[in-house]
Amino acid sequence: MMIDALKNDLLLRALRGETVERPPVWMMRQAGRYLPDYIKLKEKYSFFERCQNPRLATEITIQPVEQVGVDAAIIFSDILVVPQAMGMEVQMIEGKGPLLPEPIQNKNDLQKLYLPDVNEKLGYVFEALTLTKKTLAGRVPLIGFAGAPWTLLCYMVQGKGSKTFDEAKAFCFSQPALAHQLLQMITDTTIAYCKGQARAGADVVQVFDSWGGLLSPKDFEEFSMRYIRQIIDALKGDCLTIIFAKGAWFALESMAGTGANGAGIDWCITPALARKFAGNDITLQGNFDPSRLLSPIPEIKKAVREMIDAFGTHRYIANLGHGILPNVPVENAKAFVEAVKEYSLETA
Ligand code: CP3
Repeated sequence: MMIDALKNDLLLRALRGETVERPPVWMMRQAGRYLPDYIKLKEKYSFFERCQNPRLATEITIQPVEQVGVDAAIIFSDILVVPQAMGMEVQMIEGKGPLLPEPIQNKNDLQKLYLPDVNEKLGYVFEALTLTKKTLAGRVPLIGFAGAPWTLLCYMVQGKGSKTFDEAKAFCFSQPALAHQLLQMITDTTIAYCKGQARAGADVVQVFDSWGGLLSPKDFEEFSMRYIRQIIDALKGDCLTIIFAKGAWFALESMAGTGANGAGIDWCITPALARKFAGNDITLQGNFDPSRLLSPIPEIKKAVREMIDAFGTHRYIANLGHGILPNVPVENAKAFVEAVKEYSLETA
């Protein structure tokens, strides 16, 4: 495959710790939900149809690059395609979120899962990445992603979204050997999946541990970090990596210790404290409160300048502290991106 040279490689340089003219900016969950063109596609195709059709996934992935001006594309897909590939049924219920009608509860349920051939089961994601890479023609880097094993276990055991994931935690704490067996299966699948994404054209892979912060520091190490570490290790030499573990600020030091290129942080920690915990050898990404995009535009712009002042421009990627909310006006998302692009190093 012929790959055009990147015209905008700010994200890659920031992740490698190189000098940049200004910090790169993108937004978690930037593809979808708040964009009118995406909402139009929703009327015609179901959620997994949108994911499984490389042409549609490419179109959705590129929308925020063209319409909002972000410095990176993130492939349109979902973390739950991995449990699906391992043999579980996953439904996406409009207005409610994911539903896995046969959650994992015991050894018997676990035995029904398998380690998939990722080319066979997830080849559509690889095709979407390759087509997106080609269509981007070097405009911006392409990010692939996967859920962290702990966050995927949450959905596979609880069977649906939850604020506490109490059943998933009960499973881990009452049947730890089984939980570790499941986490290892997810990890092995995820490593093959992420390597495939890198081969198909992803420059960076981000691991989303959306529910990492539900665990105590000790349990996070046992049920999450141990597996994230395996994934980061396996990807060295294949692509750049970012760990985003929402709420798990206490683990920033061990995230940096994995050798990942970047760590995402949410808005519940100051940039200074995050830097202190993470050290200087990892790029920090974040941490604008997604609800703050509902502020008037002049306030958004002022808060973005303050955020960059606090992080500094070295080893920093401007982003939200979690996914963009569906009710954010496109103008406000654009103002966020523009404010980063307008940030001048002279005024820093
Ligand atoms: O722009 C991007 O970031 C790429 C696309 C993307 C989606 N999901 C598409 C999607 C990404 C990176 C994800 C990751 C994801 N999926 C996470 C981790 C990030 C996070 O927000 O914590 C999680 C926990 C999921 C699981 C999931 N998928 C839930 C809980 C839901 C329903 C609630 C919601 O966030 O909308 C989804 C559905 C989903 N995934 C939608 C989109 C655009 C909305 C449904 C739709 O548009 O039909």
